[in-house]
Amino acid sequence: MGAPNLHLWHPFTHQGADPAPVHIRRAEGVFLETRDGRRILDAISSWWVNLHGHAHPAIAAAIAGQAARLEHVLFAGFSHEPAEELASRLGKIVPAPLQHIFFSDDGSTAVEVALKLAVQFWRNRGRPEKCRIVALENAYHGDTAGAMSVSDDSPFTAAFESLRVPILRTHSAYCAHCPVGLTRATCLIECLESLERLLAGRGHEIAAVIVEPLLQGAGGMIVHPEEFLSGIRRLTAAHDVLLIADEVLTGFGRTGRMFACERAGVVPDLMCVAKGLTGGFLSLAATITTDRVHDAFTGADHSRAFFHGHSYTANPIACAAANANLQIFDSEPVFDRIAAIERVHAARLPALAAHPGVADVRYIGTISAIELKVPDAGYLSSLRPRLYEFFLNRGVLLRPLGNVVYVLPPYVITAGQLNFVYDVIEDSLALLPS
Ligand SMILES: Cc1ncc(COP(=O)(O)O)c(C=O)c1O
Repeated sequence: MGAPNLHLWHPFTHQGADPAPVHIRRAEGVFLETRDGRRILDAISSWWVNLHGHAHPAIAAAIAGQAARLEHVLFAGFSHEPAEELASRLGKIVPAPLQHIFFSDDGSTAVEVALKLAVQFWRNRGRPEKCRIVALENAYHGDTAGAMSVSDDSPFTAAFESLRVPILRTHSAYCAHCPVGLTRATCLIECLESLERLLAGRGHEIAAVIVEPLLQGAGGMIVHPEEFLSGIRRLTAAHDVLLIADEVLTGFGRTGRMFACERAGVVPDLMCVAKGLTGGFLSLAATITTDRVHDAFTGADHSRAFFHGHSYTANPIACAAANANLQIFDSEPVFDRIAAIERVHAARLPALAAHPGVADVRYIGTISAIELKVPDAGYLSSLRPRLYEFFLNRGVLLRPLGNVVYVLPPYVITAGQLNFVYDVIEDSLALLPS
């Protein structure tokens, strides 16, 4: 008996209420091509993963070559050249104190690994009471249970309270809605004081603070002052608490430097990378840490080992894609492209900021955000689906985060293409309630 077709269940989609998915048959550069031959400009890099354009031939070739040689081998008790090459390539670009790399599958698992390493680090050092995690308001770190716990409350987490572990929450430097009622021009980053109080009072029970460095992504593309991140590093170091930098979105050039931490001169104890790691081709992630953290897991006692892994840990094909992706940073003018994107953001945002329907504009590196004034601000704003449809009808893929429209393009976008995206965004302001 032939099986009936299974129905596809899409992520973050209200089945039956949201529009039918757009069928894509191929992609190249910044464009997706639909089944009926329409071109859509991917202005959000397909959920922030694509760096050098879709179907980059060097990454495609590396994947094909690796698949024909060694598609996979378990990574417990075995090793292989693509993973070793990737460790060596990453070692050259992450801050020097980060020396040890643990592979996993996606951004959420990289965060799970970081949280578990942080908690077991203190246990292995005879301080099991240091097991609480501090995370920021507006944070988003993924959808698995641990990552969802450190993410702030949102429609994404509402149904799962029973699965989330308790987290200590501290202010985020959301300057457009300052949590302590100040303005950036004159403030001294007073929003850090809530973390300072927390660490002073409860540092003895805190394992780690986790942050999205300089840019909170899904929480609304919120750009933080560099002093906020460096202040968090200063405070965590002073209170002997680990700092986890979730660079899943910000890594690999997104904020104008290879990693956002660099901009603030910060070296975290653990760094999570995923998304752009393979240039948007395959799912692969890593949690990278220091000698100090790693060394707590060594020794004769087996209970000190890190009992965590995934079937496809360090998949050779994904590692080969990542190696080809990083090679492109050497062979193509990637940081010139990044700077060119930033220049267009800087040129186009002032006009948007002046519009009466715009509450705030912000940008960092290749990422810009336009926060719109609506009566129902938040992810479930009724404006979101109308904007999304408007953009798609104009041939641009933008997926507003509620009332925040953001632009996060592949690095190969041209100034002309990016200006077109801004023209479409300007036209979309006609949808705002008057
Ligand atoms: C900062 C950050 N961390 C973690 C994640 C989760 O990554 P993934 O969707 O690959 O599990 C995301 C995803 O958007 C993210 O932006």
